[in-house]
Amino acid sequence: MIRSVVTGSGSALPKRCVSNEELAREVDTSDEWIRDRTGITQRYIAGDDETTGSLGTAAARAALEDAGCSIEDIDLIVLATATPDRTFPATATTVQAALGGKGFPAFDVAAVCSGFLYALATADAMIRSGMAKRAIVIGSETFSRILDWEDRGTCVLFGDGAGAFIVEARDVAEDGPGLLATQLHAEGEHCDLLYVDGGPSTTGEVGKLRMKGREVFRHAVVNLSGVLREVLEQAGHEASDVDWVVPHQANQRILDATAKKLGLPMEKMVVTVDRHANTSAASVPLAYDVAKRDGRIKPGDLVMLEAMGGGFTWGASLLRA
Ligand code: UT7
Repeated sequence: MIRSVVTGSGSALPKRCVSNEELAREVDTSDEWIRDRTGITQRYIAGDDETTGSLGTAAARAALEDAGCSIEDIDLIVLATATPDRTFPATATTVQAALGGKGFPAFDVAAVCSGFLYALATADAMIRSGMAKRAIVIGSETFSRILDWEDRGTCVLFGDGAGAFIVEARDVAEDGPGLLATQLHAEGEHCDLLYVDGGPSTTGEVGKLRMKGREVFRHAVVNLSGVLREVLEQAGHEASDVDWVVPHQANQRILDATAKKLGLPMEKMVVTVDRHANTSAASVPLAYDVAKRDGRIKPGDLVMLEAMGGGFTWGASLLRA
């Protein structure tokens, strides 16, 4: 059967790392509060010379190298972001040009923190239908540009970065590698709980991120444990079969609560929120790349990806590495 197989991954972080202590010099907060409530100890913040496009390009290059292929082998780029370089063109086309690609489709997907899951599902559908053979799927964000640095309830939570997968069509056996099951959801009625208060068609300004954190938290645990169960059922697996969960990195307490609800040991959760903070659409591929490069995720492992964010949107994918 033809499946979309992840044959490479890569990631990129801005040069500047900002610790909680450094942030507490500018913002009315403390290292203790941020650690206790979120598990975050530091985040990376893009400089003037670093953008969603440049970080996405660096992550894509690393993924191409990991997969042992070049831009000539690629026929699709799907990039998930809520912080594009410009309102248009799509940042995916900027990445395509920077990599020296030509002619093949390249577009952005906007589903905020679940964006990478939506982008991966789109690439998977295009690959399985024969529209593409080998795709770069990217999650890249510069959320630091849309934070209100006067709002301590949000500005301490986010960071910048990018992650990428090379996903390609492979004829595999039933127990072979590839994407096994995916579920995506959205509930637009909750759009006022996590949003940006601007946009080209409303204020004409970029706007700043606004969030009712406690309510988002409550929905996140319920929605994520629900979608994880759906994907396991779709793939005919039990939670105990899963080797690694690569979750969206929003808050250590959400990761703890989701693992507990599913009866999964915390050792199976890949955690990078402490180092990267919440990088929105970049967080899942970034965490995956960390765990693959440090030897945790190995060929044959069953890996669950999951995310939830503004919209609300949420989703999960089960894959065999
Ligand atoms: O990626 C998209 C998904 N996003 C999320 O999943 C985020 C989900 N939400 C959360 O992670 C948590 O709700 C937060 C980390 C945002 C907040 O944690 P919380 O335990 O829900 O705190 P809270 O907002 O209820 O605030 C508790 C207290 C308040 O003080 P009072 O009113 O109790 O005196 C806040 O003013 O903490 C205060 N506070 C802070 N204090 C120091 C809020 N932010 C800060 C801060 N430093 N940065």
